[in-house]
Amino acid sequence: MRVISDTGEMAASCGNAVRPLGLVPTMGALHEGHLSLVRRAKAENATAAATIFVNPTQFGPGEDLAAYPRDLPRDLDLLAGEGVDLVFTPTQESLYPAGFATWVEVGEIGEKLEGAVRPGHFRGVATVVCKLLSIVRPDRAYFGQKDGQQTAVIKQLTRDLDLGPEIIVCPTIRESDGLALSSRNAYLTPEQRQAAPVVYQALSALESAWKSGTTSVPELRERALEVLRSEPSVEGVDYVAVVDPNGFHELDTALPGAMALTAVRIGGVRLIDNVVLG
Ligand code: PAF
Repeated sequence: MRVISDTGEMAASCGNAVRPLGLVPTMGALHEGHLSLVRRAKAENATAAATIFVNPTQFGPGEDLAAYPRDLPRDLDLLAGEGVDLVFTPTQESLYPAGFATWVEVGEIGEKLEGAVRPGHFRGVATVVCKLLSIVRPDRAYFGQKDGQQTAVIKQLTRDLDLGPEIIVCPTIRESDGLALSSRNAYLTPEQRQAAPVVYQALSALESAWKSGTTSVPELRERALEVLRSEPSVEGVDYVAVVDPNGFHELDTALPGAMALTAVRIGGVRLIDNVVLG
């Protein structure tokens, strides 16, 4: 496995790599969710590449950039164990040098739900993903379903800017109690960790109500909120919404294929999750 921090060297190595090339962009602190993407990239491509970069531009002021978990030696061991060929570990200065002034704006899709609570977040995600795709030029890029709105943003930007790769969205990996794997789960105290499965339980309650014939989104939302309210550790619910998974337009009636998603705060830790109905 080659670990490369220089942008030009990464671009040249990817240019010379045997095709197809599959890319898994990450911010490190790898867990089984990331590794499931890596395994899929490895299985479907002749060359598997990953990036590890905690992207400062997708964190708002007062968010957890400084505290974000980082363990590069462990991450590299895990990627080597999966047989990854190339790992890109750029510095902040190399991706955002002095004078950096060009941003990718994704419009309406980036302003609602996660984008409304975290202004500028999707601009940062879109900009760095655009840069990573331009450097690596993969045939396929792999992202997790857990970040549902992010996957819609990335599909849109790849299409709008003709970036080329096929965007492959892989299923959310969960703990046995339903909690979606996330690097941010590391922030949870043991008590908060015990409470955290309520996020998926709320979405599951919404999904069961839908399967039993309720299609009114206000009623479905209320079903999820009832479950969230029953857990004293829940300090706030940023949203429970049902959207069409492409444009991320909020729906009043939940049709098959709609995505139900939520963002919940437990002890200062913000957890997001989603399920697709149908
Ligand atoms: O999902 C993530 O880990 C990040 O948002 C991504 C796509 C690597 C961009 O920094």
